[in-house]
Amino acid sequence: LNKGFGVKGLSESGITCLPNQYIQPLEERITVSEAMPGGSIPIIDMSNWDDLKMEELICDAAEKWGFFQIVNHGVPIQVLEKVQEATHRFFGLPAEEKNKYSKENSVSNNVRYGTSFTPQAENALEWKDYLSLFYVSDDEASALWPAACKDEALEYMKKTELVIKRLLGVLMRRLNVTEIAGEKENLLIGSKRINLNYYPICPNPELTVGVGRHSDVSTLTILLQDEIGGLYVRVEESDNWIHVPPVKGSLVINVGDALQIMSNGRYKSVEHRVAANGKSERISVPIFVNPRPEDMICPFPEVFAAGGEEAIYKKVLYSDYVKHFFRKAHDGKRTVDFAK
Ligand code: SIN
Ligand code: FE2
Repeated sequence: LNKGFGVKGLSESGITCLPNQYIQPLEERITVSEAMPGGSIPIIDMSNWDDLKMEELICDAAEKWGFFQIVNHGVPIQVLEKVQEATHRFFGLPAEEKNKYSKENSVSNNVRYGTSFTPQAENALEWKDYLSLFYVSDDEASALWPAACKDEALEYMKKTELVIKRLLGVLMRRLNVTEIAGEKENLLIGSKRINLNYYPICPNPELTVGVGRHSDVSTLTILLQDEIGGLYVRVEESDNWIHVPPVKGSLVINVGDALQIMSNGRYKSVEHRVAANGKSERISVPIFVNPRPEDMICPFPEVFAAGGEEAIYKKVLYSDYVKHFFRKAHDGKRTVDFAK
């Protein structure tokens, strides 16, 4: 039906109703009611780094919600705007240009243009196209990433480095980890992936999803979303979903499974999903900060310094963990059980 054109191609072909493959089971559809109780995701001002109160807000948010937004984070707004423009530029390319980076055609596994999540494993497809860029080196990025977005994606990755390190520094202090260097640095920020996500206008947004429920496999995810909205986060205690409202210039931060494991469950990697939209296209640009594929991950010993606590996760090879995640569809079950 749609080989090689993505959902953007479908959306632009003039279809007026959603193809069957995209119809999600009732329980996966996102019904947006006016009142979705459950509080709101904290917005944390990072302008004052010496502020102990700020540290407390960050760690509390990572424990309670697994999600927060940051403002005054030091990443120039121009860098954020440029990577958003570059995302529109890439997805605006003709299909044959984008298809140079598809699974079949891409010269490297580190550069991948695709649609949905794992179409071969999914019963119902998701209304999203993406370009996924695994960072190895500046030289490789220069040589292999699409010209339409490589400079901007790289700059975004570089300019977020400092805030990522600072956030992890703060989060580690509460776990009695005082220095991020050597092996700890590999485990926390050993590899990075940047995704450019594109959600076209959908003819029947109420019947499908942009992204199905999942938790990220990262240590931390830094997400730049545009002004459209549609990201929902699960609140476990009340079994509710709350919206992450777009805030101009902010970055959304969430804890991933790897950090949940390394913190022995202290910090929460929380399920989230994205609604499809009938009126506007939407883009988002997450950076996944990950362990290296070859690292073994498990709870940090420092977490147990006080005694009395037991490890709730076993050691797993990070690349096995990621493989497990990509072998299945977004089924709402938590990948983290793989480490139990
Ligand atoms: C995702 O979590 O996979 C995407 C988040 C977003 O587009 O806001
Ligand atoms: Fe995600």
